Amino acid sequence: MAKTKHDTAFVEFERVQKSYDGVNLVVKDLNLSMPQGEFLTMLGPSGSGKTTCLMMLAGFETATHGDIRLDGVSINNIPPHKRGIGMVFQNYALFPHMTVAENLAFPLEVRKIGKSEREEKVMRALGMVQMQDFAGRRPAQLSGGQQQRIALSRALVFEPELVLMDEPLGALDKQLRETLQFEITNLAHELGITTVYVTHDQTEALTMSDRVAVFDDGRIQQLAPPDKLYEEPENSFVAQFIGENNTLEGVVKEINNGVALVQLDGGDIIDAKPVNVTKPGERTRVSIRPERVEMDPTRLQEGAHTLKAEVLEFVYMGDIFRTRLRVAGTDEFIIKTRNAPDQVRLKPGEQIEIGWMAEDCRALDA
Ligand SMILES: Nc1ncnc2c1ncn2[C@@H]1O[C@H](COP(=O)(O)OP(=O)(O)OP(=O)(O)O)[C@@H](O)[C@H]1O
Ligand SMILES: [Mg+2]
Repeated sequence: MAKTKHDTAFVEFERVQKSYDGVNLVVKDLNLSMPQGEFLTMLGPSGSGKTTCLMMLAGFETATHGDIRLDGVSINNIPPHKRGIGMVFQNYALFPHMTVAENLAFPLEVRKIGKSEREEKVMRALGMVQMQDFAGRRPAQLSGGQQQRIALSRALVFEPELVLMDEPLGALDKQLRETLQFEITNLAHELGITTVYVTHDQTEALTMSDRVAVFDDGRIQQLAPPDKLYEEPENSFVAQFIGENNTLEGVVKEINNGVALVQLDGGDIIDAKPVNVTKPGERTRVSIRPERVEMDPTRLQEGAHTLKAEVLEFVYMGDIFRTRLRVAGTDEFIIKTRNAPDQVRLKPGEQIEIGWMAEDCRALDA
């Protein structure tokens, strides 16, 4: 695959806005810069503007404001047949009257590639997804997963530098989805393809991506590698949207040496890391992951604040235990503990003490 060397970003959105009706902005102020070869996922709730961004990048929709550049050139100035963008959609969109091989040859014919080269490229693309033996079948004679593999190889057959995928695995069952997630990321990395992937499945986003852009309300709320997104959410939306989280509300009492003392609405005082609170008196939502809650006070640092908790429910999940607690006025506080030989199994009605390291508890916007 031909690769151009360049210092600029390969895909760039600069202050992009989009309105379909001239009144409401569905994309509000999008800035994004991707290096060549990156696998980036747009993740967000329904209606947050993900497909719209993909359509603008493909050139099927125009931005109302701002600029989208591909390898330094504004997408508006690149004619569609020169864009070199492969696309895969949720519902396959294979041509039903054509065989698998004809489906794959189609984008090559459009690009005026001769017959023998076409046949060679088709077989190679089918080989990438282990579907060489299915070249003569029609889409209706394939399973859902096989159809999606063909859709993927059709997007790759003309060796695009950029591939856009909009929920390509949404219609498949869990096991097949996981297999294809693995195949897609491997292929993308092996071929050095730059990929923009859209999903509203957060596990899929975390496991597949180099970076994830979390969308809400037409904006990117956070753009970060998966581990950073999970461990260091920058605001309450991201903390709630990615993974399971406990949220407690209160007011900042003081901030000292990088630790905020927060008085919860029920009166208890806890320690937290000030993330987007800056001064006493501000309201905050503190956010703590279930696996970071400690129920052995001797494992906390000296002077750490603890909370009284009542066990409401204990669920055995095999590898972990998931226990629901009543804490500081909420009945939905979850802790997760590893199923280790010495791990206690709590019983409903038990009274315990819980705490955490201040850096694991993030004081975010209210
Ligand atoms: N062609 C269109 N004309 C008018 N409004 C549209 C059009 N396409 C999308 N919208 C609106 O723009 C907003 C963003 O839609 P978009 O399809 O980008 O969301 P999405 O994040 O892809 O959602 P989903 O996860 O449901 O696919 C929605 O409010 C939607 O109703
Ligand atoms: Mg969509």
